[in-house]
Amino acid sequence: SKRVRTRHFQTAKDSGIRITGLTSYDMLSAQIFDEAGIDFLLVGDSAGNNVLGYDTTVPVTVDELIPLARGVAGAVSRAFVVADMPFGSYENSAEEALHTAVRFMKESRAHAVKLEGGVRSADKIRRIVDAGIPVMAHIGFTPQSEHGLGGHIIQGRGEGEAALIDDALAVEEAGAFAVVLEMVPAEAARRVTERLRIPTIGVGAGPHVDGQLLVWTDFAGFSTGRVPKFVKQYADLRGALTDAVTAFRGDVAEGAYPGPEHSYE
Ligand code: KIV
Ligand code: NA
Repeated sequence: SKRVRTRHFQTAKDSGIRITGLTSYDMLSAQIFDEAGIDFLLVGDSAGNNVLGYDTTVPVTVDELIPLARGVAGAVSRAFVVADMPFGSYENSAEEALHTAVRFMKESRAHAVKLEGGVRSADKIRRIVDAGIPVMAHIGFTPQSEHGLGGHIIQGRGEGEAALIDDALAVEEAGAFAVVLEMVPAEAARRVTERLRIPTIGVGAGPHVDGQLLVWTDFAGFSTGRVPKFVKQYADLRGALTDAVTAFRGDVAEGAYPGPEHSYE
């Protein structure tokens, strides 16, 4: 079927069709999600936690993410591929932000970039959009500022809702085609979604948004450790792979693998 474009995000919101997104960091998962009809794949800097072995997204670099994004962008035939701009690659100025976005577009062939921040990032979003590169914004809990925010803390609660709405309006005004709302109360997300023309994509933002995004290793039960409350685990890939590797190890130990059917004459 036809490639997903930014206009399809707007059409979906306008006609009440819910958008789906998953992170992906490699070709094989991207192929599966694309064939299953997931609308967009985010090459998230959550690769820091799920691929590169860091405990936050803070150390992730552009040079680390570009090859992952290239693998994902090369694997899809329908899904829209968004590359995450890592911490330190855009905050300094709109020029720096555009430079990084251009690198992702040319070197990975992703279809759009994502960056964190509302009001504080609006000038960067505007510059990138003006150069012809679609931008997905990201507000609410922004993991790159985890240390500044004081941990994994729900944003937009109580008095914080006004700031959340200011951020949402700022990124829409700056030209973002969609905005991720991470870890915000469901009612705040609903009010933001009603205020905005562009679609809202929730990750831990409840049901009253225009689309849902999950980290793929979380939703598929592949991640280590505990997953956030908002994640529904749809599979137990960690359990399945543990069973498989245990069986392989046992078969080799017992001489049951390889058998004649796995051997050349
Ligand atoms: O990197 C990531 O996975 C993300 C989503 C959780 C929004 O930015
Ligand atoms: Na991210």
